[in-house]
Amino acid sequence: MRKKIVAANWKMNMNLKEAKSLCKTLLPLVKTNDKTVVFCVPSINITEVGKMLKGTNVKLGAQNMFYEEKGAYTGEISADMLLSAGVEYVIIGHSERRQIFKENDVMINKKIKKALAAGLIPIMCVGETLTQREKNETLDHIKNQLEKGLKSVSKDDIKNVVLAYEPIWAIGTGHTATSKQAEDVCAYIRKVLTEMYDKKTADEVSILYGGSVNEKNAKELFSKKNIDGGLIGGASLKSEFADITNS
Ligand code: PGA
Repeated sequence: MRKKIVAANWKMNMNLKEAKSLCKTLLPLVKTNDKTVVFCVPSINITEVGKMLKGTNVKLGAQNMFYEEKGAYTGEISADMLLSAGVEYVIIGHSERRQIFKENDVMINKKIKKALAAGLIPIMCVGETLTQREKNETLDHIKNQLEKGLKSVSKDDIKNVVLAYEPIWAIGTGHTATSKQAEDVCAYIRKVLTEMYDKKTADEVSILYGGSVNEKNAKELFSKKNIDGGLIGGASLKSEFADITNS
């Protein structure tokens, strides 16, 4: 059985007071019975939010990390630092990191391998632009991102990777992919994983959908065969996030 996961991506939102207040509201409402809920918190607030999550069934996540062990990398955060703060999950290769901070597939691959070696669970994001979708290049682009991002990740390790399909045109825009569009690409991701590994292995990898998921559309999206949950941005900053986790 694949893990069902609903991960909140808070991005660069909420100061410490606001973050604590949201946790206070959400924690009693989030039911995790058959699924894993993760809060991916801005690094400066990870320690304090982590304290609030202790003893609850919500897991602590980060939004990024660097692939080097330690040293002169001003502004960066290592896997070991995340681990020592109690982090279990880390988003890698979000489209905002790729587009604004110029992260490429080679860097993303190094981060994925470092996270796995450290014992963190990477949530690796892939997704196409609107232009790529209109030119019918979506599947080729996704395949390319998977092959490069997961280069030399072993069959044992891939089971500890979570994938997130996030079409860039759907992120923060209110234009959610239809459940069919989302399912089609998530099924394709599983097909590529089958080619890269084997069917049994591909069937064990959780694949999330992200991009304007809210409490109204979550149920339909999560009901699809190859969609094992969601990565939620805007709607994770409100109490409605609890409804999404219960979808
Ligand atoms: P959104 O963001 O839910 O605000 O569209 C999703 C994401 O970027 O992970």
